[in-house]
Amino acid sequence: MYAKIIGTGSYLPEKVMTNKDWENLVDTSDEWITTRTGIKERHFAADNEATSDLVTKAAKKAIENAGIDKDEIDLIIVGTISGDNAYPSTANWVQKKLGLKTIPSLDIGAACSGFLYGLILADSFIKSGTAKTILVAGAEIMSRIMNWEDRNTCVLFGDGAGVVVVRATEEKTGILSHFWGADGNLGELLYQPAGGSAMPASKETVEKNLHTIHMKGNEVFKHAVLRMQESAIKAIELAGLTSDDINLFIPHQANIRIIEATIKRAKIPMEKTFVNIDKTANISAATIPIALDQAKKQGKIKEGDNVLLAAFGAGFTWAGLVIKF
Ligand code: ACO
Repeated sequence: MYAKIIGTGSYLPEKVMTNKDWENLVDTSDEWITTRTGIKERHFAADNEATSDLVTKAAKKAIENAGIDKDEIDLIIVGTISGDNAYPSTANWVQKKLGLKTIPSLDIGAACSGFLYGLILADSFIKSGTAKTILVAGAEIMSRIMNWEDRNTCVLFGDGAGVVVVRATEEKTGILSHFWGADGNLGELLYQPAGGSAMPASKETVEKNLHTIHMKGNEVFKHAVLRMQESAIKAIELAGLTSDDINLFIPHQANIRIIEATIKRAKIPMEKTFVNIDKTANISAATIPIALDQAKKQGKIKEGDNVLLAAFGAGFTWAGLVIKF
């Protein structure tokens, strides 16, 4: 069996914050953010929106786009590191909000690689006969887990959700290959120190901003470049293809310089690379499914096209997939 993407949907919250807006809050400049990252603006969720609300909005569009009845869905997977609660999972809230049957629902905490990890699991569940029609989402409200006073990190992130409907098919199409990995030795280069069993919440952890993203940006950058390159190249090889066979590359949108370094090594031209980081910033697990939906709506993905996806995130985690549409 093969796992085919039969529908996509995405949701970006209404509120837009520009680099200029950040200039009024921290010691930064539009020029610094643009040249170092490629980011110009990002969307931020409204106070009454939780991550499951973003997923639910995107999921309704994906289900409609797939032309299926919502009761055909037999599994929900949500990649997120900014879910509604520590538990239950955000996927459980999505199940409730979409009014779905008592189907299994789970979250994946693989940070920026969460959506691709979710697709790889969906592929395995379909191949094993465990599920036939799966909702796979990537969703984040990064604005709730970042330190609004830390210029090193706050300007980098945005909020949003993207969802795909994956369906079992006997035709040789859909997910053709995957490559994935993780290295826990480097976990502390990018993590949220407090709020879990290692460091429970206390007055001190809140005062010291330990419930927010802590990142050694330039260290992360070096690993991101290497692992994104590796993931892209290996996924192409495992699909039995060459870079010339790739019609569109959708990389994780963390930094335009990481994307440029990746495509250089993977031998993919910029014209075949989808970039929306200027409008969305880094939405961790949500960047790729949102970009995928936008690329489809813009007519950049046609039936039969080979689309390459690659991501790198906290953990460290990384993944690459080739998908035939
Ligand atoms: N505005 C102005 N100056 C700033 C800002 C800012 N917003 N942020 C940092 N600076 C300063 C620093 O303080 C430093 O100043 P100093 O030299 O006086 O000490 C200087 O700019 C250079 O800082 P670097 O960190 O070396 O800058 P770099 O070129 O590495 O860019 C960045 C930083 C954009 C964070 C980059 O390292 C990066 O993109 N890293 C990877 C991020 C990533 O991929 N994360 C993975 C996914 S996220 C996830 O999984 C949740």
